[in-house]
Amino acid sequence: MNTPSLLNVDELSLVFRTRSGPVHTLDRVAFTLNDGEMLGLVGESGSGKSVTAYAVLNLLESSATITQGRILYRGADLLADAQAGKPSLRGKAISMIFQNPRAALNPIRQVGKQIADVLRAHRSITAKAAQEEAVRILATVKIPDPARRARAYPFELSGGMCQRVMIALALACEPQLLIADEPTTGLDVTTQAVIMDLLKNLARERGMATIFITHDLSLAAEYCDRIVVMHAGQIVECAPTETLFSGPRHPYTCKLIAATPQSDSEIRTIATVPGGLPDLSRTDLPACRYSARCDMHEAACDRAPLPLRSVGAGHSVLCWRVK
Ligand SMILES: Nc1ncnc2c1ncn2[C@@H]1O[C@H](COP(=O)(O)OP(=O)(O)O)[C@@H](O)[C@H]1O
Ligand SMILES: [Mg+2]
Repeated sequence: MNTPSLLNVDELSLVFRTRSGPVHTLDRVAFTLNDGEMLGLVGESGSGKSVTAYAVLNLLESSATITQGRILYRGADLLADAQAGKPSLRGKAISMIFQNPRAALNPIRQVGKQIADVLRAHRSITAKAAQEEAVRILATVKIPDPARRARAYPFELSGGMCQRVMIALALACEPQLLIADEPTTGLDVTTQAVIMDLLKNLARERGMATIFITHDLSLAAEYCDRIVVMHAGQIVECAPTETLFSGPRHPYTCKLIAATPQSDSEIRTIATVPGGLPDLSRTDLPACRYSARCDMHEAACDRAPLPLRSVGAGHSVLCWRVK
């Protein structure tokens, strides 16, 4: 038998119960992540990227119901484990960093102490040893003068420095998998590159797998080994990065790539595709959630279930029209 992949999200569907009815947020989301790999989860705002991450980390709010599918971590069923009351892997095998680091940090505790708190929650070490280890971790995320910065409060640090502290916190428990949800949004372009290079190098050194969530396809292309493209709660295409750019197959990916500026362009703009995401609370949501925006759409496209077609090595597309 093959060894199971690090993470396998298998046909995951998720509904939010709201006062105005169910919102069909995720539809048979499926992807795998291998050890040491950096996977880009790319899609425009509202496409379900964060909800997917929260599902993996068992961080969903109570109005969310998983209606179908499994999440396997090294073959172990995380959803079944959560139901059985087993502790989540969050903060142990799996860590997450968020878009707004300042909001995620405790504003009234020195950053070094916050890292030491995490260390002490996971290991039996003295307060002094934890504090020393915290300074060492701050050095690994390239914070200058880490012993002094360890005594700083979040408000005394820049956005880029706060994000480094968040990365340090996430690394403190030596996760196998890091989920970075828009970790550089809101940072200037130079700091963005510094943080992404740091993440990439740390992941490589530690053999840590990373899911990099972004709405910026060109940023994902720069750093990721493989990319999954998400649209309105569906994974429409998945491929190794080079394959995705040299031979995109899903009409949405084709449009996104055509609209993506060259990586050497001075001005960074985000690719957009005409039309908006469909209303996910509609009761007559079409099988293909891209159909209203699609130039190739025909009546036969509305048949369910939409086929996930393999079109090459590690390359799959969710579309009736792609053969
Ligand atoms: N608590 C909630 N109740 C209802 N709908 C929600 C809730 N949280 C998220 N959603 C919906 O789920 C969809 C995906 O959200 P999200 O995963 O945050 O998107 P992304 O991270 O890709 O921008 C959005 O349409 C959003 O409106
Ligand atoms: Mg999000």
